[in-house]
Amino acid sequence: PQQPLLAGVNVVITAGPTQEAIDPVRYISNHSSGKMGFSLANAALSMGANVTVIAGPVNLSLAADIKRIDVKSARDMHQAALASLDTADIFIACAAVADYRTETVHSEKMKKQADTDVITLTLVKNPDIIADVANAENRPFCVGFAAETNDIEAYALGKLARKNLDLIAANDVSNSAQGFNSDNNALTVFAKDKRFDIPLCNKKEVAIQLLKIISEQYKSIS
Ligand code: PMT
Repeated sequence: PQQPLLAGVNVVITAGPTQEAIDPVRYISNHSSGKMGFSLANAALSMGANVTVIAGPVNLSLAADIKRIDVKSARDMHQAALASLDTADIFIACAAVADYRTETVHSEKMKKQADTDVITLTLVKNPDIIADVANAENRPFCVGFAAETNDIEAYALGKLARKNLDLIAANDVSNSAQGFNSDNNALTVFAKDKRFDIPLCNKKEVAIQLLKIISEQYKSIS
């Protein structure tokens, strides 16, 4: 019988949003549900991979054979990602990571100010997880996502080059029928000199198609 496509391959996937605390009861986050990343994890398992998911706060479950590391902030996710590199063959960054976090996390709940209608939060840049993974010494095959509302191809190709990725899956998130929190998605996948289109369908099917592209490209360079 034929070997499954990803037999014995170690795949690490980031999924879901991150939460950047403001104080003990408030945070900055985004609408990622984790559905796309978790669909990739379940599909990779069914293709024979050893799968690790580094998950931001999501309300979804995973097959029992998948290793799950739960994190909250981008910095937690960054640390878990770098710690996974010893064994990772393929790294897929599907998480919607907050680009910025609050400079100060208040240790007590912030009070409403009686004397002013405007308050200011200062934000500082978070580490770029996939870029640091892609520039590590024992670099795995690196797949990023690009969530864009406009100029999708140009921005995706910019991220592919700037973050030193092997593949990037571009998501048009201006359309609410796909992308964040939807059950469906459509992707355009770019390598430096290649392009693949995955038409709109449910995220389980998108995951299978994306993993087929990834395994083909991974095998062609390794
Ligand atoms: O979770 P769902 O509701 O199913 O939605 C799926 C999705 C829309 C979140 C997913 O398909 C998607 O597009 N994920 C990437 C979202 C995103 O934050 O894209 P970006 O263009 O801002 O980031 C580019 C790439 O860099 C991504 O691979 C991201 O994981 C990575 N990144 C970004 C910032 C950062 N500090 N570290 C990173 O690793």
